[in-house]
Amino acid sequence: MNRVEELVGSMTWDEKLAQMQVVFRPDPAELERWVRAGTGAIFWPRSAAAVNAQQRVAVEQTRLGIPLLVGLDVIHGHRTIAPTPLALAASFDPDTVQETARLAAAEAASGGVNWTFSPMVDVSRDPRWGRVVEGFGEDPYLAGVMGAAMIRGYQGGDLREPGRIAAAVKHFVGYGHAEGGRDYNTADMSEHRLRNVYLEPFRVAAAAGAASVMAAFNTIGGKPMHAHRRLLTGVLKDEWGWRGVLVGDADGVGNLVPHGVAADLLDAVQQSVRAGLDVEMGGSLTDADGRALLAPGTLPAERVDDAVRRILTLKDRLGLFDRPYVPEGEEITEAASLARAQVRAAAARSTVLLKNDGTLPVTPRGRILLTGPYATSADHLGAWTQSFAAPAGSVAGELISRYPRTEFTVEAGVGFYDDDPADLAAVAAAAERHDLVLVFAGEPSDLSGEAASRSDLQLPGRQEELIRTVAATGVPFAVVLVNGRPLVTAGWIEAAPAVLEAWHLGTEAPAAIVDVLTGAAEPAGRLPMSFPRSAGQVPVYYAHENTGRPATTGGTMRSEAVDIGLVGPDNVTEKYTSKYLDLELGPQFEFGHGSGYTTFRYANARLSAHGLRLDAIEAGERAIMNIDVTNTGGRDGDEVVQLYLRDLVSSVAQPVRRLVGFTRRHISAGETITVGFELGMEQLGFWDAEENPARFVVEPGMFGLYPGGSLRATCELTFEIL
Ligand code: BGC
Repeated sequence: MNRVEELVGSMTWDEKLAQMQVVFRPDPAELERWVRAGTGAIFWPRSAAAVNAQQRVAVEQTRLGIPLLVGLDVIHGHRTIAPTPLALAASFDPDTVQETARLAAAEAASGGVNWTFSPMVDVSRDPRWGRVVEGFGEDPYLAGVMGAAMIRGYQGGDLREPGRIAAAVKHFVGYGHAEGGRDYNTADMSEHRLRNVYLEPFRVAAAAGAASVMAAFNTIGGKPMHAHRRLLTGVLKDEWGWRGVLVGDADGVGNLVPHGVAADLLDAVQQSVRAGLDVEMGGSLTDADGRALLAPGTLPAERVDDAVRRILTLKDRLGLFDRPYVPEGEEITEAASLARAQVRAAAARSTVLLKNDGTLPVTPRGRILLTGPYATSADHLGAWTQSFAAPAGSVAGELISRYPRTEFTVEAGVGFYDDDPADLAAVAAAAERHDLVLVFAGEPSDLSGEAASRSDLQLPGRQEELIRTVAATGVPFAVVLVNGRPLVTAGWIEAAPAVLEAWHLGTEAPAAIVDVLTGAAEPAGRLPMSFPRSAGQVPVYYAHENTGRPATTGGTMRSEAVDIGLVGPDNVTEKYTSKYLDLELGPQFEFGHGSGYTTFRYANARLSAHGLRLDAIEAGERAIMNIDVTNTGGRDGDEVVQLYLRDLVSSVAQPVRRLVGFTRRHISAGETITVGFELGMEQLGFWDAEENPARFVVEPGMFGLYPGGSLRATCELTFEIL
C-alpha cells in the first residue's frame, strides 16, 4: 500500500477533518495550537524559519506527522513584483507569463510557501469589476493559454523540483460575470455561456495539470458555488476527471449562511463537502484542539476519504513527506538584480500603445514637463502585493536619474482625488516654457482588486481636466496611463496625440515605462479587454453574438467588414437595430488593439486545404493556415499575429469573431516571416450546451478566417467542413 492509502487507513475522523482546512491564524502561538491539533494547511507565517517551526510541530509532534500545505496569494510576484495579470495578458506572450510565474514561485518557495492561490482565469467583460486586474481579460481562449502558462511557471514539470509551488486556479466558476460588475454579486447565466466562455479556461487549466482549484463566491442558478455539486463534482471532478484539491475561498463556506441556503456554519460545511469541496478556507471543521465539529455519519465517509486522499496526494507530489523543511539560509528576501531585469522586460512587453501620431518615442532632450499624479507616485505595484514586496520608485525619479542633462520640471497639477484648481493654471503656464509635456495619469492600486468595484470608469479626480489643460496649450504631449482596469477615455482621448497604456507594472515599472517612452523597448502589447466608450455600454466585448438586428449590417445582410460591430456603415441610422441612440458603435479601443513604433503588412494568406470532411476533423485531422508578415517600418519590432474565426451558419448563434490563435513575433525592419496556425476540432468547435452540455461539436458549413494584427483584420479566407 502506498503512503497515502496507509495514512488514510490509519486516520481518525478528527484527524481527517483537521486535514481538510486551511486556517488564517497570524498569531504564532495560536497558529501552533491548530497545527499541533493536526490542521492540514496554514497561511504563510512570513519567513522560512517560521514555516520550519510550524512544519516541525506538524511532522515531529503530531501522531501522524503529516506536513503542512503553506498557502499564500502569490499573484504576480513575491518579493520582485511583475506586472499584474491583466497587464501580463496584454503581452500576448505566454513565455513572459510563464517566466514571471517561475520567478515568483522560486522566491515564494525559498520562504517555505508551497501553494499559491493563483492564477485567476475568470473571464472578465465588465471593467467595473475591480478584480479584472487579477485575470487575463475578456477572452476565454487568451485566459486559458495564459492560465496554463502561469501554471507551468509555478509547477514546472514536477512539483518536487526546488522552487516549484502548487497552483490554485480560481474562482470556479462564473465569478467574473457578477451582475453590475459589483464584487461578490450574483452571476447567473445559461449553460451555453457557461460552457463556451466561463468554464473554458478552467477546463484548459485542469488539463494543464493545475494542482488545485478554488471555488467562487457567486451563485449560479441560485446555487452558491461552494455548494454547487453539479459543477464542482459533476463537471470539474467527474466529467473532466480532474484529480486535484478543491479549496474553498476565504469564508466561502460560511458565506452560505448569508446567501440564505444554509441554516448555520455546520449546515454550510456539510453542503460544501457533499458538493465536492476538499479544503475549507477559514477553519470550520474542527476546534483549535482538533476536535471535529461534525460527528461521524453527518458527512459521507467516502467523500471525506476522497478529500483527504486528494490533499495527501498533493503533499506527496510536492515532496513534503520527504523534504518538509526549507533551507533557511537560502530564503530570498530581496529583489535580486536578475529578477529585476526579468520583470522590467516583462513590464515593457505588457505596455500597449493606444494611439500615437509620432510623438512617441521621445528623445529626452531640452525641457520636459512631467505632470499628473503618477509622475511622482510610486504606487506601481498594483493589487495583490504584500507589505514585503520590493517597492517601485517613480517615473520622475527614473527620468531625472537616467537623463541628468535633460531639464525636467515636475508640476503634478492634480492629485488622484483632491487638488487645488490653481495648480491646473500652474501646469498650463509651465507647459508653455517646455518643449514636451508627459502626463502620467491613472488609478491608484487600491481602486482595483478585490472589493474594489467602480461605477464610474473615468480617471478619478480632475485628471481629465489636467489632460485637457495641457492639450489646450498646444505644446506636444503624450499621456501615460497607470491603472488596473479598462478606463473610459472619451473626455480627453481625441485631444491626446499619443497614449501609452502602462497598467500597474510592478517593481520595475518606472524603468520599463522610460524604456518604452524613449524607444529602448517596443510597446507591442495588445488589449486583453475592450476599453468602453461609456460605462453605460458595459459589458462591451468583441466576441458578442450578432443579434437578429445588428446595427452594423442593417438586418440580415452579411457584410464581414462591419460585422464585428466596430465599423459603422451608413445603415447605423436604421432605427430598429441593436445600438444606443447616444453612442457610437463598438468600444473606444477593442480587444487585440495596440500599435507600435513600426508597421506591418500581411499578405498571401493561404490554406493547406480549403475544407475537410467532418469525420476527418473528428478523427484529429487539421488544416494549416499560413500568412506572411512583413515589417514595413524602419525599426525592428514585435507583432502580435492574431487569428479570428467565425462559424458562419451554426445551430446556435455564434460570436461574430473569436480568437483561435495568436503568436507574438520579433520581426526585423524589412524582414518577412511566415506564421502558421492550425485549424482542427478545437478551433472550429463549440459546446453544444443546449442539447447536451458535455458535447463538443463541429458542424458542417463555412467558416470565415480573419488573420491579422488586430480584430479589424479584413484579409479573409473561408474554410469548409463537409
Ligand atoms: C479571495 C481569493 C484569495 C483568498 C485568500 C479571498 O478573499 O477571493 O482570491 O485567494 O481571499 O486570500
